[in-house]
Amino acid sequence: MAARIPVLLKTPYEVIVGHDSLPRAGEFIAQILPAGKCGLVTDENVAPLYAGTVRDSLTDAGFSVTTVTIPAGENSKSLHQTGEICDRLIAGGVDRGGFLVALGGGVVGDLAGFAASVYSRGIPHIQIPTTVVAQVDSSIGGKTGVNSRAGKNLIGSFHQPALVITDPDTLATLPKREFNEGMAEVIKHAVIRDAALLDDLEDIARIDLPSLIARNVKIKATIIAADEFETEGLRAQLNFGHTIGHAIENAAGYGRYLHGEAISLGLAAALYLSVKKAGFPPADAERTLGILRSLHLPVRLPADLTTDALMAALSHDKKFQAGAIRYILSEKPGSAFVSKDITADDLREAIEHIRE
Ligand SMILES: NC(=O)c1ccc[n+]([C@@H]2O[C@H](COP(=O)([O-])OP(=O)(O)OC[C@H]3O[C@@H](n4cnc5c(N)ncnc54)[C@H](O)[C@@H]3O)[C@@H](O)[C@H]2O)c1
Repeated sequence: MAARIPVLLKTPYEVIVGHDSLPRAGEFIAQILPAGKCGLVTDENVAPLYAGTVRDSLTDAGFSVTTVTIPAGENSKSLHQTGEICDRLIAGGVDRGGFLVALGGGVVGDLAGFAASVYSRGIPHIQIPTTVVAQVDSSIGGKTGVNSRAGKNLIGSFHQPALVITDPDTLATLPKREFNEGMAEVIKHAVIRDAALLDDLEDIARIDLPSLIARNVKIKATIIAADEFETEGLRAQLNFGHTIGHAIENAAGYGRYLHGEAISLGLAAALYLSVKKAGFPPADAERTLGILRSLHLPVRLPADLTTDALMAALSHDKKFQAGAIRYILSEKPGSAFVSKDITADDLREAIEHIRE
C-alpha cells in the first residue's frame, strides 16, 4: 500500500510513497489532471532505466507525451536548458492546459519545475524523484530554479508541484556514493525534527526504505506547510549544517565533494557549535557523527581547505543577511532554532575543530 502524505498548503497536494508507484504514475496523475498533452523531462542516466515505464503509464492513462532528455549533472540547471525544454514543449504542442513531469534527481526536478513555472506563464508540474536527495527533500516544497554564472540557484521561483510520486524501488539503481550523500539530509532531518529517527539510524541495515522515505517526507511536508515562503524562520531550520557545508562545497571546487558530503562536514561543524552554544548533549553529537561515518560520509576537513578560504566563501553566503549571521543550532535531538548569537569567530573555531 502506498502512503499518501498531504502537504497542507493553500492549494494542498500529496506525496505518494510506495513500491511500484512508478508504473502507476499515469493513473495517479489522471486522478488530478485532465487528459491532454504533457512533457516528460528526465536525464540521460535515468531515461534508460525509468522513462519508458513512466511514458507508457502516461500514454495508457490517455496523455500524449513529449519526452525531453537532458544531459545528467548540475550544469544542466541552466537558463539554456530551460529554453530547450520550452522549445521542445512548443514543438510538441503542449499548451496552457498541459503539464510537465520531472523524472530524476534534484537537477531534473529543479530545472523542470522552473520550466513549468515560466512555460505559458505557468503550467502544473509533477515530481517523480529518483534520488534520496530528491525523494526526501528537493521534490517537496516548490523551490525551483537554475544556476547562473555567479552562483547556484540564483534564478528561480516558488512553484509547488501538483503531485509528487515517489517510488523507493528506483533507489536500487542509484550508485552507493549518491545514495549515501542523500542520507546526510536524512540525518539532518533526524537532528532537527525526529529524535527517534536518530536512534533508528544507528542501525541503518534494519530500516525499511519506504518507511524511512515516508517519514522524511512528513518532516519536510510539515515544515513547508508551516513556512511556505521561508519567512517564518522554520524553513530556515532545514539549513542546519548547510552554512559551512556550502562554504566547503564552494571552496573545494566542483567535483571533489558531492553536495551531501560537504553537508556532512557542515553537520559536524553545526553539531560542535550546538554543543558549545546550545547545550546539545555531547554524547548525541558523537553518535550522530558515528552515523555519518557509518555511511562513509566525511566528518573531518582536510588540511588543504584553509580556514581563510572557507571564511571567504562564507562571506558570500546569501544567508548572511546584512552582515548578521543567522545560524541554525540544535539544543537536543529532534529540535532546532535560528540563532543570531553566532559570530565569525565561532565559525572559525568550528572549522578548526573539524580539521583532521
Ligand atoms: N529544490 C530544493 O528544495 C532542493 C533541495 C535540495 C537540493 N536541491 C538541488 O538538487 C540538486 C541535486 O540533486 P541530486 O543529488 O538528486 O542530483 P542529480 O539530480 O544530479 O542526481 C545525481 C546523479 O544520479 C543520477 N540518477 C538519478 N536517479 C538515479 C537512479 N534512480 N538510478 C541511477 N542513477 C540515478 C543522475 O543522473 C545524476 O547523475 C542540486 O542542484 C540542488 O541544488 C534542491
